[in-house]
Amino acid sequence: MPDVTGADTEKRVAAEAAAELVEAGMTVGLGTGSTVAHLLPALARRGIGEIRCVATSVATEDQARSLGIPVEEFSTLRRLDIAIDGTDEVTPEGWLIKGGGAAHLREKIVAAAAERFVVIADSSKPVEALRGPVPLELFAFGIASTLARLGDDVELRAVPASPDGGVIADYRGEIGDPAALAARLEADPGVAAHGLFPPSMVSELFVGRGEAVERSSIGA
Ligand code: 5RP
Repeated sequence: MPDVTGADTEKRVAAEAAAELVEAGMTVGLGTGSTVAHLLPALARRGIGEIRCVATSVATEDQARSLGIPVEEFSTLRRLDIAIDGTDEVTPEGWLIKGGGAAHLREKIVAAAAERFVVIADSSKPVEALRGPVPLELFAFGIASTLARLGDDVELRAVPASPDGGVIADYRGEIGDPAALAARLEADPGVAAHGLFPPSMVSELFVGRGEAVERSSIGA
């Protein structure tokens, strides 16, 4: 049964607005999640002509291919014109928490490669301050020692390993200053990626509110 809740409509309108940004000849990063699931049919319907896409998850890759959107490995492209992805939370400053779907490592690599990173969301995603949890991807090598260093605030998530072999976990402690927490997590050699995305990585935010889309420019 299709989900036709208000949130689903908001995801769809935000995704459809973002799909309009894609033009023939562009290299495009495709995010992961239920909001991106609306982006892909919107892109396919536009029949834009030749675009080159990379996907941040197997689910996105499969859906894109089923709609006739070409997806290639992210190995030779040095940069992307645009990446479009959902988020779990976004603050007024543009800090994101991503990784509810455990794709945050690839999502961050794709966002970092993009000239323009556009975040699409329903109206439940904007928050005054990040609440968490913050998704983590940990290297399997030395996992017990990594968990011991990170402490009791980190819990393993009962999901399969990532496509890159990483162990998915969540940081459930205080967030406080997201930049300080991001730096702390990045300082640990066992942390492959965390789901805090800084405003400098985000170009624009499209939030669906009812049938309307509220657009704002962020850091980059
Ligand atoms: C996946 C993500 C998603 O973009 C995030 O969880 C939002 O998902 P949805 O669009 O289903 O609300 O970061 O790792």
